[in-house]
Amino acid sequence: MLYIWGMLQDQITQYTEEINAFSTNNAAELEQFRIRFLGTKGIIKDIFDEFKAVSPEEKRTLGKVLNQFKQLAEAKYQTLNETISASQDTAESNQLDLTLPGEGFELGTRHPLAIVRREIIEIFNKLGFSVAEGPEIEDDWHNFSALNFPEEHPARDMQDTFFIKKGGEKGDIALRTHTSSVQVRMMEAGQPPFRALMPGRVYRNEAISARAHCFFHQVEGLYVDEKVSFADLKQTLFYFVQELYGEGTKVRFRPSYFPFTEPSAEMDISCSICKGAGCQMCKGSGWVEILGCGMVDPNVLENCGIDSKKYSGFAFGMGIERIANLKFEIKDLRLFSENDVRFLKQYQSATI
Ligand code: PHE
Repeated sequence: MLYIWGMLQDQITQYTEEINAFSTNNAAELEQFRIRFLGTKGIIKDIFDEFKAVSPEEKRTLGKVLNQFKQLAEAKYQTLNETISASQDTAESNQLDLTLPGEGFELGTRHPLAIVRREIIEIFNKLGFSVAEGPEIEDDWHNFSALNFPEEHPARDMQDTFFIKKGGEKGDIALRTHTSSVQVRMMEAGQPPFRALMPGRVYRNEAISARAHCFFHQVEGLYVDEKVSFADLKQTLFYFVQELYGEGTKVRFRPSYFPFTEPSAEMDISCSICKGAGCQMCKGSGWVEILGCGMVDPNVLENCGIDSKKYSGFAFGMGIERIANLKFEIKDLRLFSENDVRFLKQYQSATI
């Protein structure tokens, strides 16, 4: 025992001298020191292991010596470590050039389609229209059948459809071709009055070019209550375009056909670009078509569980890209979906 005692004491004296003499301002050297003395396989660990063999009486005295030795090594490490990291900090801050200009950060911008959609929603909000949304993947019933598109009827070809699954349990599954499907969902879920807008992305199987794309964005609207008339439809849409394009914008309705409305119409406005004088946008006619509309066909109401003798309604639908084109004169539809920031940035502070 005495032998171990003596050996340990000698070792400790020797290492104590070494530690006292040690100094460095180099982080790597300090790390070496830490590993040598304080590491998990270091000297102090070894000495503590040997200490286990010492007799209990001796442990009391030697224990104290050992602890002091350990504290010495730890204190040395800590002091040197603080000095080194402090000098590193000053070295880094000395490299800072405070005269350099700031880096700045760019503000994001709203997408032109989002600007227009918001504007449309705000106008109809004033008339009490809320906003309804629905799925982009639809079944045949909501996209076609409930909307009075008879099966095998050529009207289904009016909108070239992307089918996902043919002939499933709920009929064909497809990407919705219009947000009229959301009108069906809304009417099925409750009873009139309904007064809502259905904004959303829709898909049609068309070759991509400057004038056509395989998807675009719509805002459709639905108003169903007792005694809703065509006059209500005209006045509502008239108010809408006065708000959107300014007082004095003229409207005209042309008879049209949609399976889900009867009568149906397309609405033109006096060209917002040339004010009716004739330009490229209106192809010289002074008028541009902006939406389809009509009185909801009683069959559609009945399909959705609504009493068509008691209730009537009107619906309309427009393409947001078209409305945006008329404001911003964007000649190529593809720009809307390419997300080129140089294009998008231009609308930073745009309002319609
Ligand atoms: N759903 C029609 C379309 O996609 C637009 C429309 C909606 C027309 C409501 C009349 C009434 O083209």
